[in-house]
Amino acid sequence: MKPIEIVKDIYWLGVIDWNIRDFHGYSTYQGTTYNSFLIVDEKITLIDTVKKEFADELIASISQIIDPKKIDYVISNHTEMDHSGGLPRVMHRIGEDTPLYCSKMGHKNLSMHFSQEWNYQPVENGGELSLGKRTLTFLETRMLHWPDSMFTYVKEDKILFSSDAFGQHYAGIERYDDEIGEAIMPHAKKYFANILLLYSPLILKLVEKVSEMGLAIDMICPDHGIIWRENPSKIINAYVEWSTQKPKRKAVVIYDTMWHSTEIMAEAIVEALGQEGVNARLMHLRSCHRSDIITEVLDAGAVIVGSPTINNGLFPTVSDFLTYMKGLKPKNKVAAAFGSYGWSGEAVKLINQEFEEMKFEIIDPGTRIQYVPDDKGLDACHNLGEKIARALP
Ligand code: FEO
Repeated sequence: MKPIEIVKDIYWLGVIDWNIRDFHGYSTYQGTTYNSFLIVDEKITLIDTVKKEFADELIASISQIIDPKKIDYVISNHTEMDHSGGLPRVMHRIGEDTPLYCSKMGHKNLSMHFSQEWNYQPVENGGELSLGKRTLTFLETRMLHWPDSMFTYVKEDKILFSSDAFGQHYAGIERYDDEIGEAIMPHAKKYFANILLLYSPLILKLVEKVSEMGLAIDMICPDHGIIWRENPSKIINAYVEWSTQKPKRKAVVIYDTMWHSTEIMAEAIVEALGQEGVNARLMHLRSCHRSDIITEVLDAGAVIVGSPTINNGLFPTVSDFLTYMKGLKPKNKVAAAFGSYGWSGEAVKLINQEFEEMKFEIIDPGTRIQYVPDDKGLDACHNLGEKIARALP
């Protein structure tokens, strides 16, 4: 890609991964980008690299601006390999002894990823590095979303290089929020739901801390997707809203089915929810990707999960989703289970056990129907939908 000068002497050097569709289990229907940045000051500084397979493309982009050997410093805000995978190739090209700035945990984690004796310069939280006209400030953001994560802030330009935070898996021709508008928000929301939801309490603390520090921010440059320049506070406010997880009058009915009985139950529950004015989403686990479902769960007040009983247990896709959702620790949900069965019927009990572990409020013991729902069974599903509706704001 041709570098883009985002402000005077600071360049976006990202690569666009148009064709990636699975990012460690997260569906990326519209690809992603890996953003790297170059600051041309008295000390020329590269912030983050890209995935290993794009390292040569990054080096080619740098070469359009300067000879890569002229880079004085490299900053690694985060060890995950979509940002560090290109480091070995880049360091080899610019000079293995180039100072490599990272957090203390970054030093530890980069050392475990790469057996290289690089010139590590671990930084303290709040540590500064003068580049000449500009000064970088490093802000540790531990567990957002790895122990090594940090932000790099340029006070002279009021730019926050935010690593994964505020990013989106989106590959497009647009580079800035004002070029894409509202259409970027579903991507930012999905990114938050699948990558950062687990760390919501830390995000709220971080936003509070940044606000107390009085950091002026004109531009947020994440390592994925577009740059926020028109209205950086929009994505910060969205992060606060998503982290707060205030439940809406919205319910997500998530299910799988073998011979359509659990499906008929799901549809009856959704119908009742709709009749009660609830924004109800019906999501079949073999039609909807888990990363899209968790995005819908993010602001829902109710999570209703249905599974047939198979081999005395849950349908495998239901187990998969429950495991995924449990790891992301969504909060403030009411919940209910349902499902059809032939003879033993353990699924509802097993789903409820998972709900208990997730600290969801189980508002009904669950609805089980043997074999195929009859009118009485459908009435029970309607009643369950109405009960869920009454529990929502
Ligand atoms: Fe984009 Fe945590 O890596």
